[in-house]
Amino acid sequence: MEEEIQPDAMHVFLCQNHRADGRASCTGRWDADEALRSLKRLAREAGLSHLRVTRAGCLGPCEKGPNLLVYPQQLWFHGVAPEDLPAIVRRLVELAGPGDPRGEDASPEVDSPPIQNPSKESTT
Ligand code: FES
Repeated sequence: MEEEIQPDAMHVFLCQNHRADGRASCTGRWDADEALRSLKRLAREAGLSHLRVTRAGCLGPCEKGPNLLVYPQQLWFHGVAPEDLPAIVRRLVELAGPGDPRGEDASPEVDSPPIQNPSKESTT
């Protein structure tokens, strides 16, 4: 096992959970794949080189979705619509502060499988 702290890193989790049984879920309300691509592109254009964007499974507050969660700030964005993404990225730039090396070749591309919140029951 290896342990590592990345103090400069910021990580956005975008819920992409979908339930086919009619219960509230984030992806039933917008095109979550397109939102993920847009968020990555906007973050890259903003030069957020320390930002990672990851698709996530259910994060908990499903009825408030679509949901994004930013770590380590533990900042939630609820009820997000595609037109909100530029404002969210501006907020992330604020949070990143002057230490973020804007203008570098940012690589926020993360295309990993959904992360399930282990504290929640199965969401499918
Ligand atoms: S389905 Fe997105 S938070 Fe639960």
